[in-house]
Amino acid sequence: MKTKILVTGGMGYIGSHTVVELQNSGYRVVIADNLCNSKKEILLQIEKITGIRPDFELVDLQNADATLRLFEKHKDLSGVIHFAAYKAVGESMEFPLLYYHNNLFSLINTIQAMLKHDINNFVFSSSCTVYGNPDKLPVDEKTAVKPAISPYGNTKRISEELLYDTVNTTSLKSISLRYFNPAGAHSSGLIGELPMGVPNNLVPFITQTAIGKRDILKVFGNDYSTPDGTCIRDYIHVEDLAKAHVVSIERMAGRKQKNSFEIFNLGTGSGNSVLEVIKTFEKVSGIKIPFKYTGRRPGDVPAVWADTSLANNELGWKARKNLDDMMRSAWIWEQNLAEGKIFSM
Ligand code: NAD
Ligand code: WQD
Repeated sequence: MKTKILVTGGMGYIGSHTVVELQNSGYRVVIADNLCNSKKEILLQIEKITGIRPDFELVDLQNADATLRLFEKHKDLSGVIHFAAYKAVGESMEFPLLYYHNNLFSLINTIQAMLKHDINNFVFSSSCTVYGNPDKLPVDEKTAVKPAISPYGNTKRISEELLYDTVNTTSLKSISLRYFNPAGAHSSGLIGELPMGVPNNLVPFITQTAIGKRDILKVFGNDYSTPDGTCIRDYIHVEDLAKAHVVSIERMAGRKQKNSFEIFNLGTGSGNSVLEVIKTFEKVSGIKIPFKYTGRRPGDVPAVWADTSLANNELGWKARKNLDDMMRSAWIWEQNLAEGKIFSM
């Protein structure tokens, strides 16, 4: 049996897939989540996939005392993967303080509790949003971080700076993973993205339109300087993303880090336009997506995709799944949700 890992936000979209990968790799897992953007039933889904029900602690990590109590109870952790945060860009523009409060206090409370208990391996969920509108493509990790466009993006930039300063002055070691655009669902069809309310992100909006929950997809702008005029992103399958977290934990445990704070881009290394995503979905599902062009969405950058050489060479990790796999699995998940196979609505 391998060691025990705390996964904060482990009931959420990327966290739940990571818990599955960790358990399938022999790790014991404790999830800490306040269920503000996830459902308790995910525990059973994880158990159905892996045969193991992870330990679950209902904790709001914004509460320093509750976070300390969590670590008092689980003193035998060998690492922490920190997903817990709010993630809706638009909402962060409306309620910046909520975002600064949750994303920064949850991080600070978690690493303070780790340091108190001499737990030193920390994997952080960062985002390609820190690159803003990059001057050159693809973006590698040396690309300058730009002033954030949203408070959400700013919490990721500040979090990375906070981690950098902390590893330089304490025993903490960290790997920050900058995700590009996570998409798709688990190949079992048992876990996936669970947007609360109207989805902000493209892929769940497409699948909800296909299932009939939304009338029409708005494509935000077709006048960008890209081949078909729509924005380009680097969509990465959530299962590939999840595997990178296991590799990161192993790298830290094996003391293979070159620096105490490392940053890796996680993407496929190539971009697809909004129209290509729609076409791919239509191809794998056989369903036509009604869409119309509307104006550009404020804050959207025309194109961004990752240079993933560092993750490929240093972590020995590479994305294996393609856009077809992402669309196919997202569609199966949406249908399973609609048929009440996951939660009885
Ligand atoms: P998610 O909302 O599905 O999962 C986050 C989980 O954290 C949820 O289960 C939520 O209940 C929990 N949580 C939030 N605040 C908490 C708190 N104070 N205490 C305890 N639990 C709390 O989001 P996700 O898509 O899985 O994203 C996970 C991480 O990855 C986030 O940090 C997000 O910013 C980052 N990220 C996401 C994307 C994306 O497009 N999904 C892209 C880049 C980075
Ligand atoms: C993708 C493309 C839209 C919805 C966001 C965050 C980023 C990171 C990943 C957390 C864009 C277009 C979308 C729709 C559309 N998250 N679109 N109609 O904006 O690239 O990245 O999620 O860290 O920080 O900003 O992802 O899925 O919202 O959009 O035309 O209804 O789809 O304009 O070009 P985005 P997205």
